[in-house]
Amino acid sequence: NFGDDDDIRTEFRRLIASLPSDINMQGKKLCNYQGCWYYYKNLQAVIDYQKHFKPLDTDIIVSSYPKSGTTWLKALTVALLHRPKDGIQSHPLTSDSPHGLVPFLEAKLYARSSTPDLTKLSSSPRLFSTHMPLHTLREPLKDSPCKIVYICRNVKDVLVSEWQFRSRMENKEAERSTLESIVESFCKGVHACGPLWDNVLSYWKGSLEDPKHVLFMRYEDLKEEPYAQVMRLADFLDCPFTQEEIHSGSVEKILGLCSLSNLSNLDINKTGISWNNLDHSIFFRKGEVDDWKNHLTIEMANKIDMVIHEKFQGSGLKI
Ligand code: A3P
Repeated sequence: NFGDDDDIRTEFRRLIASLPSDINMQGKKLCNYQGCWYYYKNLQAVIDYQKHFKPLDTDIIVSSYPKSGTTWLKALTVALLHRPKDGIQSHPLTSDSPHGLVPFLEAKLYARSSTPDLTKLSSSPRLFSTHMPLHTLREPLKDSPCKIVYICRNVKDVLVSEWQFRSRMENKEAERSTLESIVESFCKGVHACGPLWDNVLSYWKGSLEDPKHVLFMRYEDLKEEPYAQVMRLADFLDCPFTQEEIHSGSVEKILGLCSLSNLSNLDINKTGISWNNLDHSIFFRKGEVDDWKNHLTIEMANKIDMVIHEKFQGSGLKI
C-alpha cells in the first residue's frame, strides 16, 4: 500500500517492496536504501539521480543532515562565487533564497522529473545540495573532481532546531511530546535521512580520505571564527581571496551579506515561498550555539550524549 505516494513508478514499487521498511513517529512509511532511511518519493528521486546524473568537473555540492546550517552554507557558497560588489541590490541572494539558488538533488530536481533539464540551471559553476550520505551521493560521480562541502552541527542543537522547524511548518506551538519523539527517533536511528551518525560519519571519513574533494565544516566553527572558515571554504572551492579583496573588506562583506540577520531581513526571504510551498522565512530562527540548553532535559541530553559517544568513538570526530 503506497498511500500518499500513488505516483511511485511500478519499477520502484518492486524495489521498495524488497527493502527494509519502517514507520516513523508521524506514521509515515520509510524504507532503507544503502543504509539510509527515505520517504518513498525521495528514494525514487535518489535512484533516478544515481542513474541519470552526469557530473561536470566544476560542479559543487553542498551536503548536510537537515538543520545543521545548510541554508547558511548555501548562502556562503553563492556569495563566494558571486562576490558582492559595493551594493548588493543585484546580488543573486537578493532575488532568490539560498535553497532556490542551490537546489536539492533528491528533494527538488529529481523529485520533479527522473531526468531534469539541468541546462536550465542559472549558476555557473552548477550548485547542488543534498542530504544523502556520501557513498550514495558519490555513485554517479565516479572519478569526477567536483567538490563536496559538508556542514555538521552539535546534534542536540540539530534536534531542537528540527523540533522548532517542524512546529512552524505545521503552524502550531512547539509541543514537548514532539521533542520527545524526535529525540527517541534519533536514538533509534529510524527517521528520514537517518541515522544521523551514519550521515555525518560518511562525510567525516570521506574528508579524511579525499580532502581535495570533500570539505568537512562545522556550524560552531563558522560561528566562532567566521573569517577563517570562509577563507578555508574559498580556498577549497578554488576561489581564494586575493590580497586586494582582503584589504578591501571582501570577506567581511560576504559574512555580512550571509549573516542570519541580513538574510532573514531580505524581502525575498521574508515573503517568498519555496518550491515545496514552505515560507522562506522558516529556515531562519535563532542560529545560536547551545540553544538545546533552553529546551532539553538533563535526561534527554544524557541519552543523546550516550548514543553519540557510542557511535562516534574511534572516529576521531568530536561533535
Ligand atoms: P536554529 O533553529 O537553531 O535557529 P538548515 O539550514 O540546515 O535548515 O538549518 C537551520 C538552522 O540554521 C536554524 O537554526 C537557522 O536559524 C540557522 N541558520 C539559517 N541561516 C543562518 C545564517 N545565515 N547564519 C547562521 N545560522 C543560520
